[in-house]
Amino acid sequence: MTISGEKRVLISDPTDKICADVLIQAGVHVDQKQKLSEAELAEIIKDYDGLIVRSGTTVTATIIEAAHRLKVIGRAGTGVDNIDCDAATRKGVMVMNTPGGNTISAAEHTCALIMSLARNVAQGDASMKAHKWERKNFMGVELMGKTLGVLGLGRVGREVVSRCQAFGMKVVGYDPMFPEDASRKLAIEPVSAAECIRRADFLTVHVPLLDETRNLINADSLATTKPGVRIVNCARGGIIDEAALLAALESGHVAGAGLDVFESEPPAEHEWALIKHPRVISTPHLGASTEEAQGKVAQEIAEQFVNLFSGKTVSGV
Ligand code: NAD
Ligand code: MLT
Repeated sequence: MTISGEKRVLISDPTDKICADVLIQAGVHVDQKQKLSEAELAEIIKDYDGLIVRSGTTVTATIIEAAHRLKVIGRAGTGVDNIDCDAATRKGVMVMNTPGGNTISAAEHTCALIMSLARNVAQGDASMKAHKWERKNFMGVELMGKTLGVLGLGRVGREVVSRCQAFGMKVVGYDPMFPEDASRKLAIEPVSAAECIRRADFLTVHVPLLDETRNLINADSLATTKPGVRIVNCARGGIIDEAALLAALESGHVAGAGLDVFESEPPAEHEWALIKHPRVISTPHLGASTEEAQGKVAQEIAEQFVNLFSGKTVSGV
């Protein structure tokens, strides 16, 4: 594979070492600089042909406008909601991601949150670490026979379904792009979004964050959920209205929530009341944080960059 001319790539979030290795091996100059402010990134981006990020860097229009040499922005992950794709299009900069590389990890993490919610694993552990023996406080529920409601039957949603079915859960699901007969073949009862929300004992969201999905779970839809519902968000902060969720937890209507993602990351001051609620368990956006997923997405994004720089067909655009 031949790359013509010097190509320079900046990696601005932590990525597996293989990302830089693949690029360097192909003759690409790689710099790794993390925790840059918008102004710092806007200042140095003019020197680069490519930028690789995860969720930590927000690639704003200001940065893209200053990027006179930039050809490509790559997300070593699934969502591109931290990249201003309109600004990139205006500037003729390609945006790539690696959908699929972290699907299994995100699905497994969702299942970990579902199971921990069902059995108070996190709360029980915190209690033990406080030198307490509080068996009565942590009565759980079985997953067997419960209804899992899944909003978004894409890659992650479907992997969550098959794993929860192994625990004997019934599944209802809604996805406007997933055909009903395909749903039935996977033993997912296709229902409307409203019915999915209404019937779930455990409700999990696996949609991208778009204008249409922002606050998909809000005060109105929470009011229609079953008393005692448990809710998981391992997709994107902003899909569930955090203030409405906190109110529903405080009223006792929602029995628990498992959150991997937040409206602001790291969370803003006002979000900690939700995170600290005793029936909320949370993780700091760890859905894709496995050795396997990070290796895959890092290698894939680097190979996609090398293909682009050497004039080959590119994927993940
Ligand atoms: P995907 O594109 O394969 O699936 C998303 C599905 O959502 C699609 O099938 C789409 O038709 C459906 N959808 C869109 N709007 C909808 C709506 N209003 N109601 C119901 N369904 C709707 O994406 P994926 O790879 O399965 O990822 C799902 C989400 O998980 C994304 O937000 C992604 O960024 C996130 N994610 C998070 C982590 C993490 O670390 N927590 C890791 C991987 C993915
Ligand atoms: C993703 O969209 O791939 C995830 O949020 C994981 C990540 O980028 O860390």
